[in-house]
Amino acid sequence: MQQALIEISEIGRKYVIGAETIHALKSVSLQIKKGEFVALMGPSGSGKSTLMNILGCLDTPTSGTYILNGIHVSEMTDDELAEVRNKEIGFVFQTFNLLPRSSSLDNVALPLIYAGFNKQTRHEKALKVLESVGLGNRVDHKPNELSGGQRQRVAVARALINEPSIILADEPTGNLDTKTSIEIMGLLEEIHSNGNTIILVTHEEDIAQHAHRIVRMRDGIIEDDYLNENIKNVSPRLAALREKGDDFEIL
Ligand SMILES: Nc1ncnc2c1ncn2[C@@H]1O[C@H](COP(=O)(O)OP(=O)(O)OP(=O)(O)O)[C@@H](O)[C@H]1O
Ligand SMILES: [Mg+2]
Repeated sequence: MQQALIEISEIGRKYVIGAETIHALKSVSLQIKKGEFVALMGPSGSGKSTLMNILGCLDTPTSGTYILNGIHVSEMTDDELAEVRNKEIGFVFQTFNLLPRSSSLDNVALPLIYAGFNKQTRHEKALKVLESVGLGNRVDHKPNELSGGQRQRVAVARALINEPSIILADEPTGNLDTKTSIEIMGLLEEIHSNGNTIILVTHEEDIAQHAHRIVRMRDGIIEDDYLNENIKNVSPRLAALREKGDDFEIL
């Protein structure tokens, strides 16, 4: 049997604020295999972002265990955690989280600084990834000189720059119109077809339909977890977009 890439067991995360304790995650168990494309859904406040932050090693659970690629995350040193975050996991956020005064190229190249590449290599790699998301002609633009969809593509390029195996996307289409959302989902599908594992948070059923598996949360627990039977129905729409030349190549 294939070992799970991500294996969390009875994860809890509580926040204590004054006299109040908030159980953002009560007890969540989940296994995700390499190469899966999972949509995480659920009402506002149900714990989706909290779970994503734990999966991405940005936050630690207050109870339960997390085994990532066979290693107990709680036993990793700070340096090991930083390395996993930088090299194995790419993040994409709803609000893009780009540096406002930096060009697309510099935003995308940023994670390479921590990975220890020299400037020339950083620029070459960043340019290549920007080209792969269709932004070869926007490398010197700053975020406020780009459309929302272009900003998110810069963010996706930044997430891809270290060739991570896992992409975590928290509402990546939350600030985009329908057409641009479909473009970004097309991009995530391309990344998935290259062998990456993708976990995507979304409120929108349409967007979740791009995923192969849907996990629904409520009040800090998983209430449903099933394979997406409709996945085949999505392809014709994307195929139509591609025919119109609205799609772009990745890597
Ligand atoms: N840093 C924090 N301190 C205290 N409570 C928090 C903190 N972060 C999240 N919470 C609480 O934990 C619960 C889960 O929050 P979370 O952000 O995971 O929800 P979500 O499912 O991502 O919601 P949304 O769809 O609105 O983004 C919420 O009740 C929230 O108020
Ligand atoms: Mg959230």
